[in-house]
Amino acid sequence: MSQDSSEISYVWLNGKMLRYGEAKVSVLTHTLHYGTGAFEGIRAYQTTDGRTAIFRATEHYKRLYDSCKALALELDPSIDWIAASKEIIQKNGFKECYLRPLAYVGDQLRGLKMPAGTKAEVALIAWPWGKYMGDEGASKGIRVGVSSYRRPDVSTGLPWAKLTGGYLNSALARRQASLNGLDEAILLDMQGYVAEGSGENIFMVKNGVLYTPPQGAILPGITRDSVMQLARAMKIQVVEQAITRNQLYLADELFFTGTAVEVCPIREVDGHSIGTGRPGEITKMITDQFFKAVRGENAAFSQWLTYV
Ligand SMILES: Cc1ncc(COP(=O)(O)O)c(C=O)c1O
Repeated sequence: MSQDSSEISYVWLNGKMLRYGEAKVSVLTHTLHYGTGAFEGIRAYQTTDGRTAIFRATEHYKRLYDSCKALALELDPSIDWIAASKEIIQKNGFKECYLRPLAYVGDQLRGLKMPAGTKAEVALIAWPWGKYMGDEGASKGIRVGVSSYRRPDVSTGLPWAKLTGGYLNSALARRQASLNGLDEAILLDMQGYVAEGSGENIFMVKNGVLYTPPQGAILPGITRDSVMQLARAMKIQVVEQAITRNQLYLADELFFTGTAVEVCPIREVDGHSIGTGRPGEITKMITDQFFKAVRGENAAFSQWLTYV
């Protein structure tokens, strides 16, 4: 199923606002061949007062710079990403959208060698994006399976950086899940503990306590951080600790978090029904608090919003 790009009127490419059809890159783009790019995924939401706010923009753009630094890709520090984000949202006339900043290596290099000082080219694209797992998945929960693909660990890659090349592994795991009739994959780390989904962090509820895998093989998600802060504000105990597949099967509740997926309940893992088979109470409370925060209804977390 191909996706419709007709809703995207303008794209920001290397500092210029261009018509979608005019924003083109060379077939020799290094990142296209070798995965040598860094990117972000950010959402902007319509707030209850009718404005539009970008969720945790500062943290996302900080991670973009960190990812580029880890890749030794020079990303111009003078780019005003927040201003560009506001502009692209306004130019396209979006009230809510997903933002995709991308830092990539253009066509100046052939072969794998990336000399010191390799400069990033930049793009910023925005598009409307509904529920990543569909409306039914988001409300009733999704069916997932533990993948035979593993999440690369700190010795085999740069798992804390959001690098384009790293997503081949995620795409393979996601494809395998789809072929098995499932909505999403859970990837174990190299030691066999639960790491995360193909593009999401994972949380488990057991006896009223919220557990999530520690920083290690996972991408340290910004939604993960938001959910941990919201849970602590609700006096829910949050524990970062290694989780086994066995614990997943016995969990009271499971859910994914991520910019694309937001907070999404998991109702089945490898054919095991989780808890009651329906989104649990803590999942529902956290989902509710998350959407209050993104819509500007939670004053305690208003610093997470950058109004357009
Ligand atoms: C592999 C992976 N893990 C976790 C996440 C969740 O991160 P965030 O909440 O910052 O979007 C993402 C999405 O960016 C991801 O691609």
